[in-house]
Amino acid sequence: MENAVKRIGVLTSGGDAPGMNAAIRAVVRSALSRGVEVVGIRRGWQGLINGDFVQMDSSSVSRIINRGGTILYTARSKEFMTEEGQKKAAAILRSRGIDGLVVIGGDGSFRGAQKLSALGIPTIGIPGTIDNDIASTEYTIGFDTALNTAVQSIDKLRDTSQSHDRCSVVEVMGRNAGHLALYAGLATGAIATLIPERPFDLDRDVVDRMKATMTTGKHHFIVVVAEGVGNSKDMCYYIQQRTGVETRLTVLGHVQRGGDATAMERVYASAMGYRAIELLEEGVGSRIVGVKENRIYDIDIDEALAMKKDINELFYKVAREISI
Ligand code: F6P
Repeated sequence: MENAVKRIGVLTSGGDAPGMNAAIRAVVRSALSRGVEVVGIRRGWQGLINGDFVQMDSSSVSRIINRGGTILYTARSKEFMTEEGQKKAAAILRSRGIDGLVVIGGDGSFRGAQKLSALGIPTIGIPGTIDNDIASTEYTIGFDTALNTAVQSIDKLRDTSQSHDRCSVVEVMGRNAGHLALYAGLATGAIATLIPERPFDLDRDVVDRMKATMTTGKHHFIVVVAEGVGNSKDMCYYIQQRTGVETRLTVLGHVQRGGDATAMERVYASAMGYRAIELLEEGVGSRIVGVKENRIYDIDIDEALAMKKDINELFYKVAREISI
């Protein structure tokens, strides 16, 4: 059977995430092995509009399976958010003979993919964001590495907090979502994990818990705060005033976005990249690849973007109950 596509484009968009390179590699190698040409589009949607293209061959993705960041660079584009920008992008793809596109990124990137699909360009999305906030998938590329980075950092903070009988308030990334914070808090035994998805009361959920624990002789604490909650600096001050425990704030920031991808990222990114090419080869576009019940699957892009994701309620309960 003849391939439905002859030349495809691949781009990364939005915040970079460890494992994106492993996904690019899988897309390029899977396409080439089927006789499909691959064009790398650099700097996301903006690069597409600007025609920032590079021909990919098998060696252009050598030695990148582990590397953080994205060899294709990434950007956030205002121009592409406009109808005019989207039409321009579709026209450029057509003029270059690109008849399918793989977009590796987050929710915002998928909205772009949805528009291009509607303009007749078969487009497949692969979830790549450390925030794990894409509803159609249990897992997004980058989450596992960022989680491990956050956990290693918090473990280090615990050493110094313990030595000084201090409280460490640690702000973890995640944009408006608390998945990264929740997992990091659970994995480090934080006394409290504050996330935007659940209401909290600083006195009841942090101060009183710390005071109760202090009666057992423990005087060092970790409080994890998702960046989406905001005000972590004020919280720090409040906790210190109300508990008498010296409290320090650490904002982990962009360090969470870097570093070598974990084995888990590499495995899923490879399988998702492979699946994206299978779909394009079958003549299927307008889909998002993801993980459901631990299996790779794909879902219609409109359906995927209409879904809402909640945090893992069990993990939330466990964290509250067993961390003192
Ligand atoms: O979406 C990934 C993410 O790292 C979020 O967790 C964070 O809020 C945001 O990107 C930071 O964006 P920027 O790199 O533009 O500062």
